[in-house]
Amino acid sequence: MSLMQKKLDDLMQKRDQARLGGGQERIDAHHGKGRLTARERLDLLLDAGSFEEFDMFKTHRCHHSGMQEKIFLGDGVVTGYGTVDGRLVYVYAQDFTVLGGSLSETLAEKICKVMDLAVKNGAPVIGLNDSGGARIQEGIEALAGYSEIFLRNVMASGVVPQISAIFGPCAGGAVYSPALTDFIVMVKNNSYMFLTGPKVVKSVTHEDVTVEELGGADMHASQSGVADYAAENGLDALAYVKSLLSFLPQNNMENAPVVLSGDPPDRRDEGLNALIPDNPNEAYDMQEVIGRTVDNGDFFEVKAKFAPNIITGFGRYNGQSVGMVANQPMHLSGVLDINSSIKAARFVRFCDCFNIPVVTLVDVPGFLPGTNQEYNGVIRHGAKILYAYAEATIPKVTVVIRKAYGGAYCVMSSKHLRGDINYAWPSAEIAVMGGKGAVEVLYSREARETADPAAFLAAKEQEYSDTMVNPYIAARRGYIDDIIEPARTRFRIIKALEMLKNKRDTNPMKKHGNIPL
Ligand code: HXC
Repeated sequence: MSLMQKKLDDLMQKRDQARLGGGQERIDAHHGKGRLTARERLDLLLDAGSFEEFDMFKTHRCHHSGMQEKIFLGDGVVTGYGTVDGRLVYVYAQDFTVLGGSLSETLAEKICKVMDLAVKNGAPVIGLNDSGGARIQEGIEALAGYSEIFLRNVMASGVVPQISAIFGPCAGGAVYSPALTDFIVMVKNNSYMFLTGPKVVKSVTHEDVTVEELGGADMHASQSGVADYAAENGLDALAYVKSLLSFLPQNNMENAPVVLSGDPPDRRDEGLNALIPDNPNEAYDMQEVIGRTVDNGDFFEVKAKFAPNIITGFGRYNGQSVGMVANQPMHLSGVLDINSSIKAARFVRFCDCFNIPVVTLVDVPGFLPGTNQEYNGVIRHGAKILYAYAEATIPKVTVVIRKAYGGAYCVMSSKHLRGDINYAWPSAEIAVMGGKGAVEVLYSREARETADPAAFLAAKEQEYSDTMVNPYIAARRGYIDDIIEPARTRFRIIKALEMLKNKRDTNPMKKHGNIPL
């Protein structure tokens, strides 16, 4: 055997050892919990044969607390780059079989290396998380490692898309790197995120709570809004990440890929002409408007379970990727509240970072009144959505489907916030407030002086509705560019987006704005 052959054999043996992570026994235990290993996840995410790995031989530098006996090649994370549907992505996948995927100084260095490359080369970073947090034996070095990652998350924000998938525990400081990324996907019954676990919660607040209740995928997808999607299993989570990537550009200097679908741009949809109920207080499903207008009905929703009174997600019009924001009359009549404002604001800002036009479908009776909302800061949080639409320089196309009352009219990508094209259906109700409220303010005193106050107010309400609640007053001012036939909504949106393809708009020079956080 030549010397070279011996060296090659040694290399292969070391590679095999690195690929085993924490060893077969731990891999089996991991599988036993219904979880895939870091490498299996990467295999499922990336195009076959595309993965190029870095730092397979890297090991930690901790020589106390018995750590000199616990050295694993690769040190608990698999890093590198590959392609998803032929497009470059940088990846890291934490390996729970190695010291619980805990984060050491060297493990952080591996993650930072791919993040730096992603920013320099303009491609998304996808982190597959499965970690017990900072490696306790290392202490401050591990904390320093986390901080280096956080810094890079912030620097990369708005430069390249960052996506986190959570497959197992994500505790302590481990939650903050995902929190700084653009999207978080969690796996139901198998992943959780929290700052402190149930035992600490019990000792501090005396609450009895399970990991699932405290930080499970369903909770974060529906209550806290931390997660964008609660996947059924690991496969589902990775499929979600892949679909999401298909709507996104590689970086902030590029546009999203055009994916032609064969769906004719001028396809009419007669069903839309019959969608709006005669009774203005009756709900209809805004998903219908989205589904019937986007290419092949293909809509990719984000944060579906959180604040469902507003819908956010991606679709395509004639192949062009867009962010959709739409009030949902099926939930709380589509009202704007704290959570829906935060949800939509963050989504619009993401689209603005990455040159993705936003199409806004409006049916909103106003902001939700009440002490609960006021005490929790609906003024501050409601301002976020206003801020996001106003600062966004991407193409903004808006269609008022039905209600656009009061402040909510202003907020939902109105002309006054630099909406580029603002259409309305003939069913649009654009006014400062609904007829009942307006008449009570304006005519209560006069009504009391009549023989039949109720009849008087009803007549006034009818008069107000006939004259003030329609799209024509706004159209007369040019705040609405045209009143369109619902059946032709798809075509009109496509024409508008094509017209706006080369839009350039800027904001005043500044270090950064001060969005009401
Ligand atoms: C070192 C760790 C570890 C850690 C787990 N391990 N977490 N080693 N540092 N943080 C090791 C375990 O000792 C064990 O090794 C192996 O990984 C598997 O862990 P188990 O506990 O057997 O697994 P499981 O029962 O599934 O429990 C997983 C777990 C639990 C819930 C994550 O390990 C746990 O509670 N870990 C600590 C979580 C935590 O408090 N993290 C916060 C750190 S402080 P052996 O060899 O025994 O099998 C932090 C602050 C950062 O993150 C702040 C930045 C801002």
